[in-house]
Amino acid sequence: MTYKAKVASLIAAMLLITGAIGTTASASPFKVDLELFKFNPSLIVYEKSSAEFTDPQTCGECHEDKYQEWNGSLHSMAFIDPVYQGELNKATKAVGHSISRQCEGCHSPAGVVTGEIKGPGVSGLSPVARAGVSCDMCHSISAVNHGKTPTKEPGNGSFVIKPGEDRPDGAVLIKHGPHPPAEGCGDGFHECRQTEFHAQADLCASCHQVFHYDKYFPIEATYHEWKHSLYAQNDIHCQDCHMVGTETFVKAADSLVKPERKDYRHYFNGANYLLYYLGAQAAEKADDKEQAGRLMHQYEMAVKRLQNAAELEIEPVYRNGALAEVRVRVKNVRAGHNLPTSLSNIRQMWLEVIAKDEKGKIILSTGAVKADGSLAEDTRLFNSDGMGPNMHFAVDPWIITAFSRHETIPPKGYRDVHYGVTAPKGSKKLTIEAKLRYRQADQQIAEALLGAVPKDIDLARDYGLSKVPTLPVVDMVALQREVAAAQ
Ligand code: HEC
Ligand code: HEC
Ligand code: HEC
Ligand code: HEC
Ligand code: HEC
Repeated sequence: MTYKAKVASLIAAMLLITGAIGTTASASPFKVDLELFKFNPSLIVYEKSSAEFTDPQTCGECHEDKYQEWNGSLHSMAFIDPVYQGELNKATKAVGHSISRQCEGCHSPAGVVTGEIKGPGVSGLSPVARAGVSCDMCHSISAVNHGKTPTKEPGNGSFVIKPGEDRPDGAVLIKHGPHPPAEGCGDGFHECRQTEFHAQADLCASCHQVFHYDKYFPIEATYHEWKHSLYAQNDIHCQDCHMVGTETFVKAADSLVKPERKDYRHYFNGANYLLYYLGAQAAEKADDKEQAGRLMHQYEMAVKRLQNAAELEIEPVYRNGALAEVRVRVKNVRAGHNLPTSLSNIRQMWLEVIAKDEKGKIILSTGAVKADGSLAEDTRLFNSDGMGPNMHFAVDPWIITAFSRHETIPPKGYRDVHYGVTAPKGSKKLTIEAKLRYRQADQQIAEALLGAVPKDIDLARDYGLSKVPTLPVVDMVALQREVAAAQ
């Protein structure tokens, strides 16, 4: 080969390589098996037969206690939740129903696989579609596809749902649970089948991991956070904290010993006290005192859960003998995942810290809620900020493809915040008050979501809300300590 020919072939080879790199770079590493995932971007697989879904009230005729516990849980409200409906309405307008179907796959799986739900709105639907994450949504799950998803991780509804099967003499219902079936299990109404994952986090994982519909960024990663925690290593699963009462959850989190079989309840109680409260208002309006009572019970449990999740420590830091800083440590002592988790870009958990001298004069104040409901600019929040592909701040899950800031607290871990404080002349000691506070969302975001509800939800008529009230704040834990001005 001549020198010129050599250079030419080298250039050609380089072009080929660049070309090859070009194609690899543009191809996504996330492949969707469209043969398997027919409802993509929801990853539900539906094994259809003439066996139909059953509404929860019918299950409740024989399983009354389970029904009473579930009815009033967030799972029972997952579809009619006005905050969800507001965001779904926005999603459908922004990206269309074929994509927002992803949302419906977790908030009302039956409504998606039967094709009944055609967009935002709650009226005119069957009881099963309205019931959101109902009995059948968990007990008709016959298998999971966690390893076959585009990310090879659970999420976006990666389960197989099969209410029953056709037999020569007609359709039979088959319900899956964690125990070996007893004699006569199902009383002729359904057959019973044991599956290992009903007692494990894998059941919850399909829905408690939310990936961007196309870029697969994990916007909610509760299962992932749990899986890499001390709890997973000690066989303490979601059920062991969320399907029991408050005292049992505290015991499981502290001792890392599983609750007894008799302790399990279908509460699925979490942190969203606001929605239980709104639900109770709606039940009062509809004159259903019993339902309002169940919802207020869930409300109190959610507040108690939050008040058992974290602990605080206050330590003075001295420089050259004089007080220079206080260090506030926030410890996640009992959440089996990061604190806060899930919608970490929407939920707000923050520190309010006040330092006073002996006369009660305020030396430092940070983290106060202002009159318009917003937080002071210097507030130290423990949550995350989402951003879209253009690196700009974003709130909506169909836009978020990364976090620009992610500061939640890992299970059994902690975060420290340092506040510069110097004592005024002549003062011998300061009083430091620290509070860890929580609310579901920033005031403006809550107003935007509730302002976007579809036409068939009327906040005044259904919830007695003429305007969005100031969001209630829960104090998770508070601590006061006196520190000397000098060492
Ligand atoms: C993989 C399942 C899954 C998908 C897909 C999903 N969600 Fe959710 N969504 C959840 C879970 C689980 C929660 C509860 C998280 C929590 O409360 O911490 C939730 C909570 C919410 C909330 C908060 C409700 C409240 O009362 O505070 C809104 C709003 C919401 N989702 C809207 C959407 C929209 C819109 C989409 C589609 C763009 C969507 N979700 C897709 C599982 C999912
Ligand atoms: C979010 C998923 C989920 C939903 C919704 C759900 N369950 Fe369960 N169910 C579970 C899990 C997990 C267990 C295993 C924990 C336990 O032993 O209680 C279980 C256990 C059961 C058991 C066996 C309990 C025992 O120990 O004998 C019955 C019966 C049952 N559920 C019925 C129902 C009924 C009826 C509903 C609706 C009113 C319902 N479930 C809603 C997840 C769910
Ligand atoms: C006609 C009465 C009847 C109806 C209706 C009924 N069940 Fe059952 N089911 C039973 C009986 C009886 C058992 C066995 C005793 C027990 O666990 O409560 C059982 C057991 C179960 C179990 C436990 C399996 C295990 O692991 O031990 C699950 C899960 C279950 N049912 C779910 C459901 C769901 C979901 C519905 C509604 C789709 C439903 N059942 C409707 C009578 C019924
Ligand atoms: C079919 C999807 C699905 C499955 C399976 C599922 N969840 Fe959920 N879960 C949801 C959705 C959707 C919400 C949020 C509803 C809302 O806020 O509108 C939710 C809410 C919750 C909440 C309340 C969160 C809060 O902010 O208070 C808890 C706790 C919870 N789930 C626990 C579990 C556990 C434990 C399991 C497994 C046993 C499980 N879930 C299985 C979809 C699911
Ligand atoms: C050791 C106990 C424990 C375990 C295990 C656990 N959780 Fe939690 N969970 C909590 C506590 C405490 C809170 C309230 C503090 C918070 O919001 O994180 C909570 C809150 C939640 C919330 C509401 C978050 C919010 O701020 O809106 C969801 C959803 C949830 N858990 C789901 C799960 C799922 C799914 C699993 C399993 C993968 C799980 N949890 C395992 C203790 C636990």
